[in-house]
Amino acid sequence: MALRSLPSTLDLGCARVYVRVDWNIPFQGGMDVESALKLSRSYPLLHRLREQGAITFILTHLGRPTGREKRYSTKPLAAIVAAHSGLPITFLDADLGTATGRDRFALDVDRAQPGSLVLLENVRFQPGEEKNAASLVKTYASHADVFINDAFASCHRAHASVVGLAKAMPSYAGPALQAEVKALTPLLGKPQRPYVAIVGGAKLTTKLPVLRALLKKADTVLVGGAMAHPFFAARKQPIGKSLVDAEGTREAKKLLRVKQLLVPEDVVVARRVAIGETPRAIALNAIKKTDIIVDIGPKTMEAWSTLIRAAKTVVWNGPVGVAEIPAFSHGSLLIGRAIASRAKGDAYGVAGGGDTIPVVARTGMQEWFDFVSTGGGAMLEFLAGNGKLPGLAALEGVGNRRMPARPPSTPEQGMSCAPDLPVSPSVLKRFKKRRA
Ligand code: 3PG
Repeated sequence: MALRSLPSTLDLGCARVYVRVDWNIPFQGGMDVESALKLSRSYPLLHRLREQGAITFILTHLGRPTGREKRYSTKPLAAIVAAHSGLPITFLDADLGTATGRDRFALDVDRAQPGSLVLLENVRFQPGEEKNAASLVKTYASHADVFINDAFASCHRAHASVVGLAKAMPSYAGPALQAEVKALTPLLGKPQRPYVAIVGGAKLTTKLPVLRALLKKADTVLVGGAMAHPFFAARKQPIGKSLVDAEGTREAKKLLRVKQLLVPEDVVVARRVAIGETPRAIALNAIKKTDIIVDIGPKTMEAWSTLIRAAKTVVWNGPVGVAEIPAFSHGSLLIGRAIASRAKGDAYGVAGGGDTIPVVARTGMQEWFDFVSTGGGAMLEFLAGNGKLPGLAALEGVGNRRMPARPPSTPEQGMSCAPDLPVSPSVLKRFKKRRA
């Protein structure tokens, strides 16, 4: 079913709008490429709302706090995003868990001016967020007119700020979320063949559902990184000191006979996972007890890039080596460049995931990919679940068109939209109708 897309003509001047973004980024010590990508994808919608004179409240989670842990406050984020985007983003310390906090929120929200962009405190500080509590949703909904979800990377969470608000209020899929869904959907239905998927990263067990789904769809699934170790272990091949877990090995055994699944035929090893260590390319049967696998080997690089270069559809999630160390990142860079050389023309090439984005950036060919997804877990669950995510399901169909009742506010009282910002006739009409 189609998503309720935010109509490009909908003028939200003077309306109070919640925008769910995914600004779950680490911000100690500068901005990494993944964070910059996540943030930048939100800016077009925020610019548009500001220009229209909407009163925008930005919702995001940050980390996985237990209660109101200061280190997970979104307060520093407001300044960071303001500096990065050039948008005047302010912070509001919403506490919807107490009656005093709710009263305070009502007052603060009422004071916000048209055209303002207000980042609210971490949504996971609010009791009931992760349980999608009806009382929390009701409180949020009573203070705004519209909800826009622009956070694809959070759509696998059935939380209040993802699912609850989308169901309780007039709600839309924002442009960044729509772009993700549009880009990932061709990987599901009837992708052009040959279809090659590359899955790397740390743990086989966490990526098993997506691996199984890809094995049903793709012609070839290349498994690299530590994800490949359980397959070696299941074949009783030596892996030295490389990481492997018993559960992964058990699962790998079940997949050993699957023809489309390929693991590296040779590897690069080192004595330690550290900068300055000498990498050695060796055959699988030459791995010593003291070795650690850090990358795919040169034969594998050649074979895999040949497969990628012949493909018409390619999806990549997870580096195939210890990509944060330059000497161990050649396999991942080669894969990135092979995809980029085919994408936007000869093939449809998509990459995604937190560890993959920095590698894509390091290829210097990010623009050559058809799409780079900001979804980590969300991208994996989207592919594993045939495009079904709770946050997306809540944005399907006609939705809740009823405007939630909210107290009188700036637009209704004085129509005090900033003079340089247009007041939307359609929104005014709705406000007047509701008041009558
Ligand atoms: C992510 O970083 O993948 C998303 O922000 C989801 O975060 P979560 O796993 O804490 O829900």
